[in-house]
Amino acid sequence: METVVSGIRSTGNLHLGNYFGAIRNFLKMQKENNCFFFIADYHSLTTHPKPADLHANIRQVLSEYLACGIDPEVATVYVQSDVPEVTELYLLLNMNAYVGELERTVSFKEKIRKQPDNINAGLLTYPVLMAADIIIHRANKVPVGQDQAQHLEMTRRFARRFNTMYGVEYFPEPDAYNFGRKLIKIPGLDGSGKMGKSEGNGIFLADTPGEIRKKVIRAVTDTGPATPGEKPSVPVQNLFTIMNVVSDPSTVKYFREQHSLGVIRYGDMKKQLAEDIIKVTEPVRERINQISSDSAYLARVVAEGAEKARASASRTIREVREIIGYRPF
Ligand code: TRP
Repeated sequence: METVVSGIRSTGNLHLGNYFGAIRNFLKMQKENNCFFFIADYHSLTTHPKPADLHANIRQVLSEYLACGIDPEVATVYVQSDVPEVTELYLLLNMNAYVGELERTVSFKEKIRKQPDNINAGLLTYPVLMAADIIIHRANKVPVGQDQAQHLEMTRRFARRFNTMYGVEYFPEPDAYNFGRKLIKIPGLDGSGKMGKSEGNGIFLADTPGEIRKKVIRAVTDTGPATPGEKPSVPVQNLFTIMNVVSDPSTVKYFREQHSLGVIRYGDMKKQLAEDIIKVTEPVRERINQISSDSAYLARVVAEGAEKARASASRTIREVREIIGYRPF
């Protein structure tokens, strides 16, 4: 059994791509491992959210993950800021993280470009905080996408550096969690690439049916039907890919035939697609709304999660302090 840590951005609202991709894998992963899932709400302070927004985002994202089946009875589900031990480890790790290596981080350089008016020290040390999140539970595995690969590499380096500095084998060097089978990739509605939050091409689980219809109707297609027998263009194929996941096989077959006969009407296809998306997401949308309005339930989940996470984290801090040389008198 591996120890797995996964941080969830507090602005990381779930879209269809997550729902049919990563989340499926998380549900499997939580059964087979000792999983810690947390909302990374300290990290989100780098963008200076308003207090009310900070809380609303945490509540929403937490509700979405719970609604999708992340099970607080099975995994440890907590809010990062409920576990202050993380900040102590962050401080300790900062003492041997070098400004040069932090400045060379791809994500930091990107932030400098994107928000030149707010290049704060939290951005610079973001990878150190992420490393603290991971090694505070002495995790072996982290399910991260390509965009986080460098942060994970830095985590490995910080863990190794600590071990070398103190001549111990204390922190494991965590690897990327390998899901074995391929992730289902859901394309966006803008005709190219995969669905993503920052791409602005997504359908979110919390979108209302009205919003879903509006987004799907605006999806990129071709201006007219293809000539008979022609292969679907990339934007049209993208809609078929989504349809494969949400619609009945007979529906897909019907529109495939219409397409290859050269008589397809994309408006009809998109109307059907929107209704099918609404239908498959309806139960989870209801669960999200139900959970997010149940403050008593959420309070119980985060309190229990914090207790379990703190038990693990405080043990690490105790041992780390001992290794570093903080001793009782
Ligand atoms: N940086 C991650 C992201 O942007 C979120 C995150 C914070 C994280 N701490 C983590 C992910 C620890 C995995 C493990 O998505």
